[in-house]
Amino acid sequence: MTKKKAVELTLYRYAGKYLFFRIKKRCKECDISYVILQRLMTEQLHRKPVSLRIVPWLDNFWKIIWRGGWHAPILTVNGKVFSQGRVPEIPKLLSKIGEILNDTSLIQPGEMQTEKATSAYKESEIIVYFSPACPHCRQLLEYLGSNGIKYSGRDVTISESARQDVERLTGRLTIPVVVIKGEIIKGFDRKRLKNLLGISADDEKPVKLDSRNIIPHFTDTQLSKIYQKAKNVLEKNQLKGWTMPSNRLYPHLWNWDSGFISRGYLHYDPERAYTEIRSLFRGQWSDGFLPHIIFNPEYTHHFPGPDYWNADNSGKVPSGIFTSGISQPPVHATMIVDSVKLDPNKERALSFLKEIYPKLKKLHDFYFTWRDPEAENLVSIVHPWESGLDNAPLWDEPLAAITDTSEWALSMQEKYDEIAEQGERPKRTYIEKYSYLIENLYKNNYDWKKISENHPFIIQGVLFNSILCKSELDLGKMAETLGYDASIHYERADKIKTAINKKLFDETEGIYYNFDLKHQRHIKRDTIFSYMPLFAGIPDKDMGEVVLDTLRTHCFCIADMDCVAIPSYDMCQVDFEGEFYWRGPVWVNINWYIAQGIRQYGEVELSEWIENSLIALADRYGFYEYYDPDSGRGLGEKDFSWTAALVIDLIAQKLRK
Ligand code: GLC
Repeated sequence: MTKKKAVELTLYRYAGKYLFFRIKKRCKECDISYVILQRLMTEQLHRKPVSLRIVPWLDNFWKIIWRGGWHAPILTVNGKVFSQGRVPEIPKLLSKIGEILNDTSLIQPGEMQTEKATSAYKESEIIVYFSPACPHCRQLLEYLGSNGIKYSGRDVTISESARQDVERLTGRLTIPVVVIKGEIIKGFDRKRLKNLLGISADDEKPVKLDSRNIIPHFTDTQLSKIYQKAKNVLEKNQLKGWTMPSNRLYPHLWNWDSGFISRGYLHYDPERAYTEIRSLFRGQWSDGFLPHIIFNPEYTHHFPGPDYWNADNSGKVPSGIFTSGISQPPVHATMIVDSVKLDPNKERALSFLKEIYPKLKKLHDFYFTWRDPEAENLVSIVHPWESGLDNAPLWDEPLAAITDTSEWALSMQEKYDEIAEQGERPKRTYIEKYSYLIENLYKNNYDWKKISENHPFIIQGVLFNSILCKSELDLGKMAETLGYDASIHYERADKIKTAINKKLFDETEGIYYNFDLKHQRHIKRDTIFSYMPLFAGIPDKDMGEVVLDTLRTHCFCIADMDCVAIPSYDMCQVDFEGEFYWRGPVWVNINWYIAQGIRQYGEVELSEWIENSLIALADRYGFYEYYDPDSGRGLGEKDFSWTAALVIDLIAQKLRK
């Protein structure tokens, strides 16, 4: 348990959900309060016994309403309402904290004391009210700066009087606000600015987003501490020879999880990375297929366990091993391709690559041989869980089209109710479809040819094929390192790339969509997985620009960097759910891919924002399975291995730089 601090601040932001209500709008006062308080914590309150908790108001409104708090943002000091409905007055707050702590040093910081309440500005003056955390503000300042316009900037996060001015001028607290010759411009309205300032079209300098103030920064010492915490998570989840995704809900060995986990180990204990991958491939079937779960024989109560999968029906499972009967995205070649570079013992790394290369090749061969029924160089999945994105909105329509149900759908539902927190896990209606699909697989004895002919769910996924494409490239690199002929891998990568661009790219929308082979249609859902081809270098430069434009115009927080990292589903979709797994939350593995992808197409700052935000999330809230994009609250499993492993990877790269 964490020690109670003498002063506990709690900020209730306008966010969250209650029963069927969900807050989707942002509240500027809440955002500003958040920035101010975070800043106070790292500046004036650093080393003081003060804690700050940010909570979504609607989830917690009943806790606060009986104390008189009903209008977010609500700030409480040791449980008592200090302010509500507006940004808290910082000088008063500091004095209050000073009183409780008997600490006279907590006087108002310089600017707030000295700044006069400006009610009158000079007619000729240009005043900009801004907050450093607001991207439109920074764009505006950048625009004025690069066009040689002189202005006085007033930061509403540190100046009480600036906030009062804004409220008086606009009737509410909205930023940015520009006052030019008595005219008030709300927001970054380039056209009006241009007119009022008399900037001609020829002279106008465009704006470049400068996100220095938004990107969280860490010192090397801070990074090393977070790195250590991440290592502790992997330590905690480790069993003999492999690592559980988490020790409550996921006590077995999961396919793509182990790939990500090995990437983390590679940085500080390469031998363990190799052992992780070896353990996973112990479960490889004779046809090359790699199951999504290798069961831990010591946990017999997990559901759905080996009895439900009937993997033995296939006659292809290695003896003495229990596995599921579906796979997951083949991330492994990419995760371990840097072994020789990262392992100080080069000989050991080479001998591992030599051992694992044929198994990886066999896995990739499997996909091309058995999962590309139309011979299009696009592999398909036969269950939503094979995508790794179990509950994504992508599967809604294909699942809805399945009308059959399985013999054991009911028992599966009951078990699910027992083990999973309702609300954050799959909807009951889908569970019977999931079970039906599994039943069809084992009734066909995992005969992939037959399955491709009679199975009701066969999807060519963007994420899956992008990951396979990149893995082929990395397998090619591995082959070269080992002195083998790499051409088959580069050729295959090239073929998948062409096929993705040809079949999965929607020219009108400027984005990639999954294709439902059974119903012969694209699945037009605006998920972040549509952007995975960037990671594998699939679009050429021009197409990449188009894809990035699409990303910018959708609600993935790209334009304003105004959520904690990139959500998994477009936040403007009516069925976006920020806390429901794969239907909105931030996932570290997906953000890790997106950050690398957009960097390759020139979005360096944005990519840095994502990567540093992931580290900040882990630091602030812990190593969760996923996070609420609005509040940053950790969701799902705590101490989740792939979150820890990929944060290790990000930090290791930063420290090396
Ligand atoms: C969930 C995720 C899946 C992951 C598994 C174990 O089922 O959707 O991607 O592999 O948990 O962490």
